Amino acid sequence: MPKERTVWRRNNASRSLERHTEPLADRLPLTSILIKVHAVSLNYRDMNILNGTNPWPTLDNGIPCSDAAGEVIAIGDSVARFAVGDKVCPILDQLAITGDEQRRAWLGGEIEGVLASHIVMDQETCVCLPAHLPWEESACLPNAGVTAWSSLVDSSRSLRAGQTVLLQGTGGVSIMALKLALAFGSKAIITSSSDEKLDKVRSQYPQVKTINYRTTPNWHEKAVDMNGGRGVDIVLDIGGTSSLLKSLRAVAKGGTISQVGYLSKQDVADLEGFIHLLIDKTAVLRGINVGSRRDFEQMNEFVGASGLQFDDIIDETFPTSRLEEAFGALRSQKFVGKIVIMMEQD
Ligand SMILES: NC(=O)c1ccc[n+]([C@@H]2O[C@H](COP(=O)([O-])OP(=O)(O)OC[C@H]3O[C@@H](n4cnc5c(N)ncnc54)[C@H](OP(=O)(O)O)[C@@H]3O)[C@@H](O)[C@H]2O)c1
Repeated sequence: MPKERTVWRRNNASRSLERHTEPLADRLPLTSILIKVHAVSLNYRDMNILNGTNPWPTLDNGIPCSDAAGEVIAIGDSVARFAVGDKVCPILDQLAITGDEQRRAWLGGEIEGVLASHIVMDQETCVCLPAHLPWEESACLPNAGVTAWSSLVDSSRSLRAGQTVLLQGTGGVSIMALKLALAFGSKAIITSSSDEKLDKVRSQYPQVKTINYRTTPNWHEKAVDMNGGRGVDIVLDIGGTSSLLKSLRAVAKGGTISQVGYLSKQDVADLEGFIHLLIDKTAVLRGINVGSRRDFEQMNEFVGASGLQFDDIIDETFPTSRLEEAFGALRSQKFVGKIVIMMEQD
């Protein structure tokens, strides 16, 4: 057992991160595992919390980030789910095991996060990773991966081969959903504020249709045209109130809107006429709250069986010595897909 660990904590006064060395307990609690962290991926939420603009409660001077991939290096005496050497990820909402839980405890928010050389987790709150994935790709799964999975897969109305999904923006969740949708044999239309980003997406995935939502404000009409006039089967809404009515206009009759994000200024006045249109469209509006351990395990089964890889959705990796640059890249929103931090080993 290592005696200490390196952690990074938010400094709420300066809105920056500080490196600390902190002791690790001599013995693990009975059902805990000690994970040596290899990679951590960043999400919009991490910057939002650091800036003090996240709407949910957060720990003062807490450890940021929720998405780590690492190796089990020690286990408590009663641990049965994992063995030393297993490759694991903690689940983002540490209370969401089946998805029926009413309370939440999100890593890097109201509880300590994972930006550390080592983390101690209860065995119930971690999952085994698909064996073929390297650390940096595995670290993209807990938030962007599970959110994208939950947005596309539902017991009664999952995205199927041949159907079409509309994705908004080229951030982590949307690009992860693009990968999954293509792996299902589905078609995808993706929007962006940037032609350059759309060029990058098309060069990687030529079969994907693209729309610039800045230069085409009626992107919903174009999406319907692109899908033969019937609308798309699932929309992942990333903007919130500013895009929701347009998402509803873009969706096919009986289709689904998975409400994931709230990146625009939220104003209920933008939703005028929403209920009438929802009824006309016989559409389903689903709130997405990442997903549970069960969702994560189901996604990993799919990723393991299909051999899906995520190297192409990582925009850039940074060592921990360039942490500030990594958060700067996240803040710039110039990336497509994911930004990952690789833990430098002592
Ligand atoms: N409900 C959940 O479970 C859940 C889980 C994860 C994330 N989220 C939320 O989902 C959103 C995206 O998260 P993320 O981690 O994927 O973010 P991210 O990786 O930081 O991606 C941000 C990208 O979204 C696009 N964007 C910005 N404003 C937009 C708007 N008004 N409409 C459409 N696209 C816009 C931009 O791409 P372009 O430059 O290409 O336009 C931007 O680069 C955030 O609001 C986040 O809080 C929710």
